[in-house]
Amino acid sequence: MSARAAVVAGLGAYAPERILTNADLEQMLDTSDDWIVSRTGIRERRIAAPGETASSLGAAASRAALADSGVDPTAIDMVICATNTGDTPFPCTAGRVWLRLNGPPRPAFDVQAGCTGWVYALELGRALIVAGAVERVLVVATDVLSSIVDWEDRSTAVLFGDGAGAVVLEASASTRGVLGSSLNCDGAGGPLLMLPAGGSAMPANQETVVRRQHYMKMAGNDVFRFAVKALPESIAGALQAAHLTLEDLDLVVPHQANARIIEAAARRLGVDLSRFVVNIERYGNTSVASIPLALAEARAAGRIGPDTVLAVAAFGAGLTWGATVIRWGR
Ligand code: UT7
Repeated sequence: MSARAAVVAGLGAYAPERILTNADLEQMLDTSDDWIVSRTGIRERRIAAPGETASSLGAAASRAALADSGVDPTAIDMVICATNTGDTPFPCTAGRVWLRLNGPPRPAFDVQAGCTGWVYALELGRALIVAGAVERVLVVATDVLSSIVDWEDRSTAVLFGDGAGAVVLEASASTRGVLGSSLNCDGAGGPLLMLPAGGSAMPANQETVVRRQHYMKMAGNDVFRFAVKALPESIAGALQAAHLTLEDLDLVVPHQANARIIEAAARRLGVDLSRFVVNIERYGNTSVASIPLALAEARAAGRIGPDTVLAVAAFGAGLTWGATVIRWGR
């Protein structure tokens, strides 16, 4: 009898239409295209229009993933949404995405694990499918970072953008699918990347707004150093869980936070950069959405097809880090 696997039955992505270029940012902040490109690799990012929210972006990506899979919403058993910028702190954005898709009542909930959230959600979906609890899971990633970026803080404002992605995971007897994961969190690193106000530790009030504590704060250098180690460590862990080695990997699809982080991680791993998917130039850091956005582009470019073995790997607020190895196709 074949083992039960969770395969990727469909993939979709969505990015808002409005493009904010480095030249635009030069008009808003004391920064330059040269600084942004040389330090981060970013040239432009997408920004949600007024009225566009995490759930509307997530629903657009989910519609595309469902269409790609040919799976009807009635055949989806569960909706997991990774986000750090949900429409509201509660109710959950997964329920709002599902409502926009006119889906029937199903368990739907959010996963909040910084930029690693979608990798966490993917592993959760895999585990529930392999355990036999569900047949099909919609795993959504959506973030509207432009809603929590301090547009007066040049050290973060130039980095982030908005976007969404989604996959349909499906039970199968195939040897393809999500093969193994490695997930971690070190709460001691929490203060390095956080949104201070609006939670029970610092309820929002007029003073928190005046102090701009409802915007994201990041110790960029510390996160950079952490990330350069976290990406290779996660990939090694996921490969071990999948009983594979680096030689088996066709492609690495890393979280797109900084081109220099990706280059350093590739060097550390000893994997040529040509085996990495990098599209940060056009989207900036879209947090949870960066990996599914990159997956969709890589597939459209013919870099991913049936039996492609790839690792997705991320790091972010928590501090969290994690990776998953996938053999593509259903
Ligand atoms: O998704 C996960 C979370 N995010 C990340 O993974 C980000 C990780 N960190 C990074 O990518 C990098 O640390 C940054 C891109 C945020 C910063 O790059 P850096 O090379 O570490 O620069 P830095 O923070 O050391 O700053 C160098 C200089 C500073 O000036 P002084 O003190 O040397 O005079 C900054 O004030 O660059 C200045 N600077 C800027 N200059 C022009 C910082 N931001 C800007 C800017 N434009 N936008």
